[in-house]
Amino acid sequence: MRMEYVNEPFTNFSKEEESAAYEAALASVHGQLGRTYPLVIGGEAIETGRTLDSINPADKAEVVGVVHQGDRELAEKAIRTAYETFGWWRHTSAKERSGYLFKAAAVMRRRKHEFSAWLTVESGKNRAEADADTAEAIDFMEFYAREMLRLSEPQPLTRIPDEDNELYYIPLGVGIVIPPWNFPLAIMAGMTTAALVSGNTVVLKPASPTAVIAAKFVELLEEVGVPAGVVNFLPGPGSEVGDFLVEHPLTRFISFTGSRDVGLRINERAAKTAPGQKWIKRVIAEMGGKDSIVVDADADLELAADAIAASAFGFSGQKCSACSRAIVHADVYDEVLAKVVERTAKLTLGDPAERGTNLGPVVDDKAYAKIQEYIGIGKNEGRLVHGGGTGDEKGFFIEPTIFADIAPEARLAQEEIFGPVVAFIKAASFDEALEIANNTDYGLTGAVISRDRSRLEQARREFFAGNLYFNRKCTGALVGVHPFGGFNMSGTDSKAGGRDYLLLFTQAKLVSEKM
Ligand code: NAD
Ligand code: ALA
Repeated sequence: MRMEYVNEPFTNFSKEEESAAYEAALASVHGQLGRTYPLVIGGEAIETGRTLDSINPADKAEVVGVVHQGDRELAEKAIRTAYETFGWWRHTSAKERSGYLFKAAAVMRRRKHEFSAWLTVESGKNRAEADADTAEAIDFMEFYAREMLRLSEPQPLTRIPDEDNELYYIPLGVGIVIPPWNFPLAIMAGMTTAALVSGNTVVLKPASPTAVIAAKFVELLEEVGVPAGVVNFLPGPGSEVGDFLVEHPLTRFISFTGSRDVGLRINERAAKTAPGQKWIKRVIAEMGGKDSIVVDADADLELAADAIAASAFGFSGQKCSACSRAIVHADVYDEVLAKVVERTAKLTLGDPAERGTNLGPVVDDKAYAKIQEYIGIGKNEGRLVHGGGTGDEKGFFIEPTIFADIAPEARLAQEEIFGPVVAFIKAASFDEALEIANNTDYGLTGAVISRDRSRLEQARREFFAGNLYFNRKCTGALVGVHPFGGFNMSGTDSKAGGRDYLLLFTQAKLVSEKM
């Protein structure tokens, strides 16, 4: 193990051998499509007979895997198993628990193209986006393993005579981990391993569109020796098993990443004390975004256009961090818009497995319909200047789409679309641009492109976003470098990938002995 944490490097696909290695992994994954994935509770593989096909969003006819679905009875079994396992798992050493994460990271690093290939076929990520997702999963494990070792060291306390005082971080109990489908490996693995390395046990309910990737990760945890019952895998409809897991009296905490509606529902239901419940449930909820890039009058306009195009259309805008609003000073508005259109026109839409594809499909039929509805709304609220159409009907392809002259209060400027759609909003001044940037219920990411130090300092004070970036894109937070989480309706600002994160999965115990 390397003691110092460093981020996993991204693969350089311009090297022929790297692209060839990824394509070989893709071919191998294609040979494994259509397999069946059971629930795993206490190490036991359970086939329920009620299954859901996970399909390739780039090719609706292709079944990536057939996933057995849990119900309330199995959710009960999963929670009870996790609760029993917690009885002894909580006494394992931080060193042992961190060791599993280091091993899992090492195995994932060796097999990174295989994991990325699964991301391509199940979530529609092109090779670069898939590789970044896999690298982030490795980073989370490397980072949280070290964080747990740090937290297990004696914590500094003020010394007084005749007393020996110590503070320990102990685990909470059974955690329900509910990840989204858009970073199906990184966020799912990050949330799961943060919980288990802190000494908790887990019921992992994966997002349905990407349950196969989660199953592959659970197989990896088994392979590196994580004991049975520590992570219990329970695919199933969020609406059916989700509420049950959240409301269960043995649930100690819920770690959720997903939409605002579901996050708020979880928060409300977790707040109600169930009969027999002994604790206040803790809710970690990271939710949606409506993120802006503000462009100042004196900005480097090439940089601004690059930042907007990359943040709006990477993974077809299906990132909570994506730029869905470009708020541009009136003096440079037309020029920035033209530059972004020029860049967007060069983006290719198609099979994410192919070399050179910039945008793959959106994740499923629901996302496809919702994004098209917003494109319809945009046609009434503003001026369509690029895209607006769809691609090959074989998959859920939507063109990168740009609307100009959107009003700050328009639906396109306020609601999370979660697709390749960006709204241009004109601001009369930098002050007004910041006001517009702060006018949503969300507060996740944002960026300012400016050469003026005083404006950047003003934004540092006034731009209300959990992750604020200057003179760069607003996506692509790196573990350890840019701890990630949002304000207001974007969530509880848990700062995943930061030094405060594991504290959310622990409670501090003070022991004082009179000498
Ligand atoms: P979603 O809310 O639809 O689903 C998230 C998870 O919740 C899924 O696993 C789903 O099965 C589960 N779920 C659904 N109903 C439930 C219920 N009643 N009880 C418990 N669980 C339930 O979100 P999504 O479509 O998977 O992901 C996209 C959303 O996630 C976007 O809003 C995006 O901004 C957000 N997101 C936020 C972050 C962040 O760090 N803030 C990161 C990634 C994604
Ligand atoms: N952490 C992801 C990003 O920053 C969501 O883009």
